[in-house]
Amino acid sequence: MSEQALTVDLGNRSYPIVIGRGLFRNRFDLETFLPSDKCLVVTNETVGSLYLESLRECLPSSKVRSITLPDGEKYKTLSTARSVIDELVEAKADRKTSVIALGGGVIGDIAGFAAACYMRGVPFVQIPTTLLAQVDSSVGGKTGVNHPAGKNLIGAFHQPRIVLIETETLCTLPDREFRAGLAEVIKYGAIVDIEFFVWLEEHIETLLERDPEALTYAIRRSCEIKAGVVAQDECEAGKRALLNFGHTFGHAIEKSAGYGEWLHGEAVAVGMMMAASMSEISDDELDRLSALICAAGLPVIPPCVGADKLKAAMRTDKKIQSNKLRLVLLRALGSAFVTSEYSQDRLLEVVSRADG
Ligand code: NAD
Ligand code: GLY
Repeated sequence: MSEQALTVDLGNRSYPIVIGRGLFRNRFDLETFLPSDKCLVVTNETVGSLYLESLRECLPSSKVRSITLPDGEKYKTLSTARSVIDELVEAKADRKTSVIALGGGVIGDIAGFAAACYMRGVPFVQIPTTLLAQVDSSVGGKTGVNHPAGKNLIGAFHQPRIVLIETETLCTLPDREFRAGLAEVIKYGAIVDIEFFVWLEEHIETLLERDPEALTYAIRRSCEIKAGVVAQDECEAGKRALLNFGHTFGHAIEKSAGYGEWLHGEAVAVGMMMAASMSEISDDELDRLSALICAAGLPVIPPCVGADKLKAAMRTDKKIQSNKLRLVLLRALGSAFVTSEYSQDRLLEVVSRADG
């Protein structure tokens, strides 16, 4: 087993991201990162049946409880988060009881939110099992659930104590979910790192074959970029908003299509194309982005949900300030910025792609 560690540098709340193959098999000593041996593992029926027992081997304690939630974005609700809190109450959890998320971004977001709320915050651990969660949602402390009016409208910042990335879990990840994760990987190259973008252009086939070495590099580089941004702007006062490239359109697609119909990563892939089309980049750069997204087996055209529905969904975006929707656009591939200065006509044109 070779394991690599990065740090999310947040002063006395800094934490490691440990990336490795065989961490479960080799009984990674998770207990040393927990303030007490009491913990609640939050998982879902799919991931729990695959990995809960292996994780228990890393937690040699009799005080480990677990809760298995139903699987799916449509369950990322206040009522599901409440069921996790009910379990903590039932377990007489105290302020040193850790909540451990074992699953994809949906489980991480719900479990993290419950951990942020219970007793105003208990220790939290992220064990992400999808590519998307490993490169994005498990790092940075954003937790939350959806509201019928909008995606992730209810939430809190609550940083984990450790992010444990067992790359072997990706072996069981369905292909569609794997490709969805690649959207967020491509995002990092597009917004801040042209060299990584070029590496992705050169290695996309190898990544799709899930070559362990290529995957570990892509996960590590993505986490490094995200950790660097979060360390500079934990609560999204500025630079962190760049990580939302493609997300304003993407969240609107997810909501308009009905949560769960379009995977988050698929919606972000199309959203990145829509945002790039609004950007002053060259046709060549736009073609390269489109080619990489297509090569990853991801969509570049929005679903026919109707421009009006999409526009309405965009009105609940969290980047709206003083009634103005801010967008993350590209100066060039590898360089993004946030702006509320863009052509409304161009926005209407891009959104009207959802008319079919
Ligand atoms: P997900 O959590 O729904 O997981 C996708 C599917 O894969 C599920 O059916 C899950 O049960 C299954 N699965 C997970 N790991 C598996 C494995 N190893 N083997 C087999 N099946 C497995 O989806 P996701 O793409 O991981 O996360 C999407 C969510 O993350 C969205 O709700 C999105 O809003 C959120 N998100 C949050 C942040 C953040 O910063 N908090 C960032 C990006 C996305
Ligand atoms: N996924 C965007 C962020 O964590 O800020």
